[in-house]
Amino acid sequence: MATCATCGAPVPDAARFCPTCAAPVGTGPDQSERKLATVVFADLVGSTELGGSQDPERTRATLDRFYEAMAAEIETAGGTIEKFVGDAVMAVFGAPSSLEDHAERALHGALAMQRSLHELFGETLALRIGVNTGEVVVGKPREGSSFVTGDPVNVAARLEQAAEPGEVLVGERTVATARGAFEFGEAQTIEAKGKPGGVDCRRLLRGLSLMRPRGVGGLRRAFVGRDEEMEVLERAYAEVEDRREPRLVTILGDAGVGKTRIVREFWEGLGDRSPETLRRTGRCLSYGQGITYWPLAEVLKEHLGIFESDSPALVLERLGSREILGLTLGLDVAHGLHPLAARDRFQDAWVEFLEEIIAERPAVVLIEDVHWGEEQLLDLLERVVRDTRGPLLLIATARPEFLEQRPRWGARIRATTLELEALSSEDAVRMLDELLGGTLPAGLRELVVQRAEGNPFFVEEVLGTLIDRQLLERQNGSWRLAELPSDFAVPDTVQAVVAARVDLLEPAEKQALQAASVIGRIFWAGPIYDLVQGAEPDLRILEERDFIRRRPGSTVPGDREYAIKHALTREVAYASLPKAKRARLHAAFARWIERTGEGRDEYTPLLAHHYAEAVGADDSDLVWAGEELELGELRASALVWLRRAAEAAIGRFEIDDGLTLLHRALALEPDQADQADLWREIGRANVFKFDGEAFWTAMLSSLEGTTDPATVADTYSLLAFHTATRAAMWKRRPDRDLIAGWIDQALELSEPDAPARARALIARTYFDPEGSSEAAREASDLADRLGDIELRSWAWGARSEVAYSRGEYHEAFDWVRHRFAIVPTLTDPDHIALIYMFGLPACLATGRFQEARGISKAHDEVTGNLTPHHRMHAAWLLLAVEQAGGYWDAVRNLTPRAESAVAANIATPCSSNVSSLLVCALASVHLGNDKEARRLERSALGLGMEGYSFDALYVEIAIARG
Ligand SMILES: Nc1ncnc2c1ncn2[C@@H]1O[C@H](COP(=O)(O)OP(=O)(O)OP(=O)(O)O)[C@@H](O)[C@H]1O
Ligand SMILES: [Mg+2]
Repeated sequence: MATCATCGAPVPDAARFCPTCAAPVGTGPDQSERKLATVVFADLVGSTELGGSQDPERTRATLDRFYEAMAAEIETAGGTIEKFVGDAVMAVFGAPSSLEDHAERALHGALAMQRSLHELFGETLALRIGVNTGEVVVGKPREGSSFVTGDPVNVAARLEQAAEPGEVLVGERTVATARGAFEFGEAQTIEAKGKPGGVDCRRLLRGLSLMRPRGVGGLRRAFVGRDEEMEVLERAYAEVEDRREPRLVTILGDAGVGKTRIVREFWEGLGDRSPETLRRTGRCLSYGQGITYWPLAEVLKEHLGIFESDSPALVLERLGSREILGLTLGLDVAHGLHPLAARDRFQDAWVEFLEEIIAERPAVVLIEDVHWGEEQLLDLLERVVRDTRGPLLLIATARPEFLEQRPRWGARIRATTLELEALSSEDAVRMLDELLGGTLPAGLRELVVQRAEGNPFFVEEVLGTLIDRQLLERQNGSWRLAELPSDFAVPDTVQAVVAARVDLLEPAEKQALQAASVIGRIFWAGPIYDLVQGAEPDLRILEERDFIRRRPGSTVPGDREYAIKHALTREVAYASLPKAKRARLHAAFARWIERTGEGRDEYTPLLAHHYAEAVGADDSDLVWAGEELELGELRASALVWLRRAAEAAIGRFEIDDGLTLLHRALALEPDQADQADLWREIGRANVFKFDGEAFWTAMLSSLEGTTDPATVADTYSLLAFHTATRAAMWKRRPDRDLIAGWIDQALELSEPDAPARARALIARTYFDPEGSSEAAREASDLADRLGDIELRSWAWGARSEVAYSRGEYHEAFDWVRHRFAIVPTLTDPDHIALIYMFGLPACLATGRFQEARGISKAHDEVTGNLTPHHRMHAAWLLLAVEQAGGYWDAVRNLTPRAESAVAANIATPCSSNVSSLLVCALASVHLGNDKEARRLERSALGLGMEGYSFDALYVEIAIARG
């Protein structure tokens, strides 16, 4: 079935319009994308009166002038006109192609539109303008209708309606993105239909600079690394000085990597020389008209002291005999010369002018951002370096794509290229340290290093966003980092820079990168070709542009393996895909793995993830509208693989991962009985975590959805069994009546020969050992009959509990030995750990001290890879043995380990948390360190376990104190 080019939804073969979004069905490839863009709405005020008082033809002519003027301003600022409706215009910046400075351009555009309207119509007409930034979907253009859609468009329209004539109202996200380049009014909120809280915005007052200044306000200054690169600049300069001949250094590097900054540092060093080096700067602009020689015009104006406001006559006077240089400034000074002749004269004049300047002292001229430079400018720059005689260092900065535009740049002249790479992680961390000063909060370094990928601009933007959102705050001289909300994403400014870079790719390669972003940071060539459906991407181009790297070897036999170089690139490419397309790509990749993976276990998590992503979005019904069968199949696959992956994760004791997978499955599962089953699995996983509360919640949720009597009985028996056997895992000790009720329910509802009954009987024994001798015996008979080794082990445990409770320690230990004997046949490490733990008291009670030590060591070993709770139990058992033997030194040696095990387990309550610390306190008292003992007691008290008694230990401590 075909898909809609606008929204990606399926379209029946004969349809002329998409049933999902109503877009006409086109023939071209699906080009829709999500973009971060800025939308401008402008509406003419006063045109109705105009229409009433004028001849229609005159009105028409006025409107035409208006349209033309607005179109010209929008174009100059780099925007795209979406539509004219009546006397309103809508424009978009950052779509269809991403622009890193979409917000700045939109606002400059808005100001220019106001200015231009005023010039044309004076006070008779006025414009209301609304500007807003956000994620939009760009579809294929259709006649008479917008191809950019999304909430930001509606909000921009609302802002425009709320604006006063002559006013520009700007949404907060635009303000945040362009802050520093403009002056805004006070924050205000306007009412808007469909926005219960209204829309926050500010009035645009005036422009301050073309681009937003970089850096984070209020922080210290930092400059890190770049020693070698600085040396290259120093050497080039030394050579220029020594040989008295010109040289070109081109600094190449990604946006924000630090090209401008390194020159500025070098610049400052030059100021200290004598004679002082002459320094001049010009900058290529990313948009605008008639700006061919703009950067050289800046140099000229700076050197000759010409101001923007100077009249042409005054400028000509300043130029003197070098009148021809006026071409740089856009003055008509060619006086009818043939254009080629004029060009030659012009170039010669520049060479002469520079020679004059450097006759007395060396000069460094910096031309920034030559990737935006026009051919004539670049020609002139090369010419100047070739022909000028004297000490001139020309520095050009450029983004890497520049060399593709102009591969032979600098080839015929004395030139050096300096490639700036991202900062190393160490330098990025140093940068952070220097910017913030003081102690950095835990997690900040990792966060910034990981998000910023060594790009100093990104480091600053991530920091700035954290500070703006008050997630990073200064408190008494140090910094505090709050927990990040789940929606903490790439800052808009960074996303725009990366998206603009991705958009420079040809469609096939861009599609490949997007497909790769769905597969993950690591991907393979095979599925890419599969996923791009007909496009023929050349992955080498992505390698050359430094988006991806080939990895040595491959985990998919016979298929090349690659990695997306930066996690950011992956996030941005992924964000550019409409949800419908994402879902389809996930589905296609999942199927590819299933085809090629031949059921290999290591692919289970991948299959789970991709099938779940294909159907897991909130709007999956929309994505798969009209393809319910397909959706059903995908969902079934997602459920199968999610459960398998969960089982595997829990098997590896990666309990949290397992739980995440089970909850994802639960969200997809339509069937109530299967949901109940998933809840039971969730309950079971929480048992391994000793999370009593979550265990109960899960099991009770399961009961709600269960009707089958045997399953109900089973669920009650599990509730009772785990609660009774892990009696210490609640912060507040569970209500005994509640547990007794569950045991009764399980006994009443279960069949006489069912495992549920055995479990209920075992639960009863652990719950009340003294009164359960019969129950324990029946449990062990039943378990023998059922032949279930785990149930037998627990039943023996139950019998041991009964004997122990009656003081028959030797019998109790005999049952424990039964359990020890089967350890080699058991596979569940949690069960083995519990056998040791429950066996220890009987072992000690029968005076087998050395054997008890052995048990605590064996327990320590088997819990090594389990949860923090198990690790805490391990420390507790080791302590308990040494305490029993009165080996207080040994207890003291174990104290640091016990404390850190308790700290690591702070999330799950356990009476052993408290007992461990109290035993350590007891040892300190015995060893005469009462201060330490009090400290440990205090931290035990701080754990706040309710309803458990630690009296025996407190008594011992008191006795020891004497
Ligand atoms: N080595 C560094 N140490 C600390 N901060 C740095 C370093 N390099 C750059 N920065 C900071 O990072 C930000 C981006 O740097 P810069 O503006 O020089 O990048 P750029 O490569 O010129 O980018 P563009 O291509 O967009 O012009 C600036 O605020 C700059 O001060
Ligand atoms: Mg720069």
